[in-house]
Amino acid sequence: MAEELTPETPEETETEEQAIKQRKNGLYPGVSDELAENMKSGWADTELTGLAPIAQADKTAARRAALSARFPGERLVIPAGNLKTRSNDTEYAFRASTEYAYLTGDQTQDGVLVLEPTADGHEATIYLLPRSNRENGEFWLDGQGELWVGRRHSLAEAEQLLGVPAKDVRELAEALKEATGPVRAVRGHDAGIEAALTDKVTAERDEELRIFLSEARLVKDAFEIAELEKACASTARGFEDVVKVLDKAEATSERYIEGTFFLRARVEGNDIGYGSIAAAGPHACTLHWVRNDGPVRSGDLLLLDAGVETTELYTADITRTLPINGRYSDIQRKIYDAVYEAQEAGIAAVKPGASYRDFHDAAQRVLAEKLVEWGLVEGPVERVLELGLQRRWTLHGTGHMLGMDVHDCAAARTEKYVNTTLEPGMCLTVEPGLYFQADDLTVPEEYRGIGVRIEDDILVTEDGNRNLSEALPRRAEEVEAWMAALKG
Ligand code: GLY
Ligand code: MN
Ligand code: MN
Repeated sequence: MAEELTPETPEETETEEQAIKQRKNGLYPGVSDELAENMKSGWADTELTGLAPIAQADKTAARRAALSARFPGERLVIPAGNLKTRSNDTEYAFRASTEYAYLTGDQTQDGVLVLEPTADGHEATIYLLPRSNRENGEFWLDGQGELWVGRRHSLAEAEQLLGVPAKDVRELAEALKEATGPVRAVRGHDAGIEAALTDKVTAERDEELRIFLSEARLVKDAFEIAELEKACASTARGFEDVVKVLDKAEATSERYIEGTFFLRARVEGNDIGYGSIAAAGPHACTLHWVRNDGPVRSGDLLLLDAGVETTELYTADITRTLPINGRYSDIQRKIYDAVYEAQEAGIAAVKPGASYRDFHDAAQRVLAEKLVEWGLVEGPVERVLELGLQRRWTLHGTGHMLGMDVHDCAAARTEKYVNTTLEPGMCLTVEPGLYFQADDLTVPEEYRGIGVRIEDDILVTEDGNRNLSEALPRRAEEVEAWMAALKG
């Protein structure tokens, strides 16, 4: 950042004491009294009134009501989190904590939702940074002043939008220190709030709060399902963008693919929901290949695992494995078709009343059968499955819950997640894969360096399931036709 793009700093500091005093007054040395006075006034009143509540206001209220019912008589503290330093005075892009955004619909840094216990439930208050003070110079001299970072909502505006009373967050830590009675907080987002609560909370009780909020998100409401649909639609467009520029990626690297998808994510959504995996050739066998700095070569496969996160923070998680030159080779096609068949079996096992484990078992069985049929592992299939021998090449679980986090509901207890029965409104990925490492001497050479995964986002419905990512073709010949049409 250039020198002239930082708040004015002292040219000459007479004494450190003087500098500190001036900073406390909101003024830095080097600012004349005349300028300071001038900057206080002459600004229009831009307060907004009559604002309509955000689209999910009734849903966030229902989510808070469920939380209130679970922890009667306790003060509950849910922070959005703070900016994190990237280097020196630059920060990572802010992303509000899932718990805070889920309960408020707000995404403001430093925000904190507090549920105060009352005789018949809880009263919610959202604590936010108010608009910058113009009297003390904060507005133009503080690095987080609105002149630098943009206008914030006033507390009154936030109340109208979110349907929750709003107060100044700078008063919260002191108030929490003085508060009496049981408290629980969501940890890991706001060190200042946690410090204010150290002698009031316990790790075990806070974990119960985290678990509740994870399990509450297992079944998605109508707003959330619509967001996941949007995330999938944007992601499908991002995949199309990538196919259209594969020749440019061939001339540069996997970064061209990552960057192309990112453009779609930023224009239509908030961000990517997780680091995009743009893995060409043997990189497809590295499960979390996010370096994306390798070559893109005709004749190889491209495994692209990427998801747009919507402006309301719901993410898709989709993988397609595409022939870079538009046609699968025979061996690529053989492996691809096996993974497709496994995915079909997995998707068919997603329905209300089924066990969560069924889709994984169904997909693994198909893959084990193929590996035995190809002579890569000695049968029978039951023996392979029992000993898990297929896992040398299947590597990972077949899916996970999806929502605001790509691996959503991660704190849910085993009996509510892995050992649960599927219900309408749950959304999960089905993503089998086969990966033959380039240095795997146990398979014939033609397999080596080929990795295939197909991943879709599946909503459990009343009568089965709906593939939210079905806009992207999966069957090999349909993928080839789709690519040909896009490349024109
Ligand atoms: N992209 C991470 C996953 O598929 O789980
Ligand atoms: Mn996934
Ligand atoms: Mn994925």
